[in-house]
Amino acid sequence: MTPDERWLAELWPLVRALLPAGPGAVVEIGCGPLGGFVPMLRGAGYDAAGIDPRAPEGPSYQRIEFEACEPPEPAVAVVACTSLHHMADVGAVLDLANEALAAGGSIVVVEWARERFDEATARWCFDRLPPPTAERGWLGALGDEWRTSGQAWEAFCDDWARAEDMHTGVDIIRELDARFGRQLLAYGPYFFAELADVSQANEQAAIDAGEIQANRIIYAGRR
Ligand SMILES: C[S@@+](CC[C@H](N)C(=O)[O-])C[C@H]1O[C@@H](n2cnc3c(N)ncnc32)[C@H](O)[C@@H]1O
Repeated sequence: MTPDERWLAELWPLVRALLPAGPGAVVEIGCGPLGGFVPMLRGAGYDAAGIDPRAPEGPSYQRIEFEACEPPEPAVAVVACTSLHHMADVGAVLDLANEALAAGGSIVVVEWARERFDEATARWCFDRLPPPTAERGWLGALGDEWRTSGQAWEAFCDDWARAEDMHTGVDIIRELDARFGRQLLAYGPYFFAELADVSQANEQAAIDAGEIQANRIIYAGRR
């Protein structure tokens, strides 16, 4: 299993638990090249569609930016997993997500509170990376970049996030709260899938012990 496959497999039960009862249409914004949760959603009886320029080919996907996609049928839920922090205009995307939802529909967002990625958390992660291979994951590549940068962590991480045009978790939550009735906001393990022999429970234990910060946001809201 690749880190991305593990990430989706381990997140699915958390997302599933926040969805309204099926059947019904579900739109996933930024499902990624693996199709995100679309295969699991379809397996659970939802009429799921993944929207992402990098989506797999197939009738369940539109390979286009969400802002430019065909308006889907009113959805019982919209899901977005670590895609909003990459969007140029999160507010505009969430306005469209709101329009895509049927009245009372749910939005379930998994996001990164990257402002919580402090030096202690970064060092804890970098100490637990798998051995370097030709295909370094994003976290391993970031650790390599930091080591060669010679910069202090906070400055390096801020420069990196700015260069990537990445939104903070706080920004994303503010935009969500402006449009949806918040049902849940919870923080938890974010890095485990990129690490060697680290389970969600291991990462949670380090969070509980105050060694690292909880970087994963799970937000559920209602139209
Ligand atoms: C970090 S990946 C997350 C993929 C998947 N959701 C996951 O959790 O593994 C972010 C995805 O958001 C997609 N994305 C970025 N901007 C988008 C937009 N405007 N509309 C749709 N997808 C977008 C990217 O193409 C990328 O596949």
